[in-house]
Amino acid sequence: MAKKKDFIDELISQMTVEEKAAQMLQVPVSVVGMDEARKWARKGAGSFLNVLGEEMEELSRISREETRLKIPTIFGIDAVHGHCLNKDATIFPSQLAMACSWNKDLVEQIGKATATEVATEGIQWTFSPILCLARDPRWGRTNETFGEDKYLSGELGTAMIKGYQGEDLSDDTAILACAKHFIAYGEATGARDSYDTEITMRKVRDEFLSPFRKAVDAGCATFMTAYGSLDGVPLTANEKALRGLLRDELGFDGFVVTDWDTVNALIRRQKVCEDHGEASRLAAQAGNDMIMATLEFYDAIIKQVKAGKIKESYLDEAVKHILTVKLRLNMWKKPLKKGVPGSIGCKAHHNISLEAARDSVVLLKNNGVLPVRGATKVKKIAVIGPNADDIRAQYGDWTYFTHPVPGIEKEPVRPYVTLLEGIKDIAESKGIEVCYSYGCSVNRKDYFKGNFAGIPEFMEQCYIDNDHKAPFYKEMSYVNEAASIAKSCDLIVVAIGDNYNQAGEYNDRADLKPSGMQEALIRVLSTLNVPMVTVSIASKPLILTEAAEKSDAVICAFNGGMYGGQAVAEVIFGKLNPRGRLPISFPVMTGQVPVYYNQFPGWHEGRYVDCPEQPLYAFGEGLSYTRYDYSDLKFNKKTKTVTVNVTNKGKRKGIEVVQVYVNDVVSSVMTAVKNLAGFERVELDAGQTKKVSIKLDDEAFSVVLPDETTVIEPGKFEIMAGHSSKDKDLIKVTVTL
Ligand code: NOJ
Repeated sequence: MAKKKDFIDELISQMTVEEKAAQMLQVPVSVVGMDEARKWARKGAGSFLNVLGEEMEELSRISREETRLKIPTIFGIDAVHGHCLNKDATIFPSQLAMACSWNKDLVEQIGKATATEVATEGIQWTFSPILCLARDPRWGRTNETFGEDKYLSGELGTAMIKGYQGEDLSDDTAILACAKHFIAYGEATGARDSYDTEITMRKVRDEFLSPFRKAVDAGCATFMTAYGSLDGVPLTANEKALRGLLRDELGFDGFVVTDWDTVNALIRRQKVCEDHGEASRLAAQAGNDMIMATLEFYDAIIKQVKAGKIKESYLDEAVKHILTVKLRLNMWKKPLKKGVPGSIGCKAHHNISLEAARDSVVLLKNNGVLPVRGATKVKKIAVIGPNADDIRAQYGDWTYFTHPVPGIEKEPVRPYVTLLEGIKDIAESKGIEVCYSYGCSVNRKDYFKGNFAGIPEFMEQCYIDNDHKAPFYKEMSYVNEAASIAKSCDLIVVAIGDNYNQAGEYNDRADLKPSGMQEALIRVLSTLNVPMVTVSIASKPLILTEAAEKSDAVICAFNGGMYGGQAVAEVIFGKLNPRGRLPISFPVMTGQVPVYYNQFPGWHEGRYVDCPEQPLYAFGEGLSYTRYDYSDLKFNKKTKTVTVNVTNKGKRKGIEVVQVYVNDVVSSVMTAVKNLAGFERVELDAGQTKKVSIKLDDEAFSVVLPDETTVIEPGKFEIMAGHSSKDKDLIKVTVTL
C-alpha cells in the first residue's frame, strides 16, 4: 500500500498544472470527434467517454506513448442494462424491470456479465447503477432506477456494484461501477429532469442517502454528481454534499465525476456563476475530481490556479483520487481490460438475460383467464397493440437505438423475442392459432379535442383539424382492423405502453396515461366480449386504471430486454409461475402522484376528493398462480431478527418474495407509515411451509432529527411481514425497544 502511495505522490509531484487539469478532464468523443479527441489525448486527458473499438485503442495508445508522463487514460460508457451501446451485446431488462425480481443474486450476475462484456471491449468503467429513487414516475428516468424504495435500491445497487467490480479491480473482467447521481436527483420539483430539488439535508439523510451509503460500503470506486440542485445549491458546486457528506462522513475513497457538462450548467442553466473560471473553481472546490464534457474547464482552471484564485492542492487531491483508482485497475501494466474473448452476447449471458426477464414479469390482475391451458378452450389468440412486436420499445432507453454510437447501424440484431414471437412459439406447439394486428401507434400526438367513449361517438365528437385528419383516420383504420381480427378470437392479448422517446433524459411526462389512441383501442376491444389480457411494455408505471377495468388480466413487463416477450408469453401459458413484484407503485391517475407507499401519515381524510386513497397497484404487489399464507410472526429483540412461516397454499410450486416492513409508532419527527426493512425470496412446493428468518439492521429503526443526527428512539415499533406493502397483505407484531 505504501508503495502505491509513493508511486502516485511521486507522479503528482512531477505533473504540471496543465497535466493535472487534463487528468481531471473526461472528453466526450461522440461529440468532439476523433480529431479533437486525439489532441486531448496528447494533452493527457484523464478519461474519454462514448468511444469503442479501434478509436478507443488509438486514444489509449496516445496517452501511453505520446504524453510526457505516459499516464494511461480511462474509458467510460453507460452500460446500464448490459453493454447496450454495442449492438452485439447482451441486453438485460432495464434497471426498473430487473428490480421486479427482488433478486440480489440475479442482479449481481447481470453486473458480472455486463462487466465481462464491457471489459472484453477494453473499457474499464460503466456509469451504473442509478441509486436515485423514482418517487414521481412522471420523471423520464424512472426506467433507470430500482424503483421508489431506498432499501430495495440499496440492496440491489450493492449487488450490481459487486457484480461489476468483482473481487479485485485489477481482474480482467472487473470494471468500475459508478453510483449515481449524488444526490436526490429523482426528487426534482415536478419530476422535471435536472431541475431544483426543494428538500432539506435532513430529508436527504432520511430518505435518499441510504443506497449511496451502501454503495460506499460495497467499495464502489466512482460516484457521479446529479444535474440538479439541493435547496438552491447545484450539486456540482455543493461542497457540503460532496466533501462533507460523501467523503468525510461516508468515507468514500474513490473519485467523483460530474455529470455531463454540469460545470457549464452552473453558468448557463443554473446561473450561479458568471464565467468558466468561477464555475471551474467552484466545481473543484466542491469536491469533483473529474469533469465530464466541459472542456472549457481545462483553460479555466489553469488560469484560476495561476492567478492564485484556487490552491493547486485541490487539483493534486483530485488527481490523486483518479490515479489511485487507475492504479487499483492496474492500468500501468494492463491499460485496457482484457475481458473474456467471445463473451459479448454469449449464450451464458443470454441465459441470464432470459432468467432476468422471467423474474421481471409482474402479474397484476387475473380473474382466472390466465394461464391459458391449451387448445380446448382457446383455439385462436389475437395479439394486438403497438408494443406487441416492437423490439425497440421492449428494450427501452440506453441501447444503441437510443444513443449516438458512431458507426453502428440501428437495425435490430438477433436474437431477441418480442411478445408476438413468444406467444407464437408456445401457441403453435399447442395447436393454437395466432393472429396479429398493430392496433394504433404509441405516441402520435392527440388528434382530437374533447372526450370520447367508443368509436362511433368518438368520431362524431372530436374536432380534428386538417393537419391531423389524415394521421387520425389512419389510426382509426388500425383500431378497426384490430377489432375485426380480434372479434373472431377466443383471447385478446393487447400490448400497450410507451416507447423510447417517452423515456429517459429530456423525456419527462406531464400525463402518464397511455398515449395516442391506446386507451381507445382497449375500449373498442373490450366491446367485443372476448376475454382480454393487457400487457404494459413501458419504461414506467403508466395509468392502467381503465385498461385494468376493461381487462380480465393485466401484466406489467416494463422493458424486459432481449427475452422480455418470451417471459410474458411463458406467464400467459402458465409455463412460468409469475414471481415478479412491483418495485414501484402505480397511480390511479396522474394527479395522484406521488403515490409511493412510504408516505407520512396526517393528510386530512388521506385522499383527494376525486381519487381513491390507494394506488391502483402498490409497491411489492404481484400475483402468481398459487397463493401464500403467513403465520407465526415473531421478532427477536436481541438479534433484531424477524421469523415468519410462509405456506404455499396452492397447487403449484412458486417463488414468494417475503417482505418485512417496520413502522416507528411514535417518533419525535414524522416518519413514514411503514418502511421496507428486509426481504427474502423463497421457493415453495405446493403445500410446503418454510420458516423464514430476516435480520434487520439499525437503519430500520432509526430516525433523522432536525439537527441531522441519526438516532434510534426508544418506544414501540410495528414489525410487519407479508406479501406486499398493502396493509391487508401484512401480519404484524408490536414490540417495545
Ligand atoms: C448524462 C446522464 O445524466 C448520466 O447518467 C450519464 O452517465 C452521462 N450523461 C454520460 O452519458
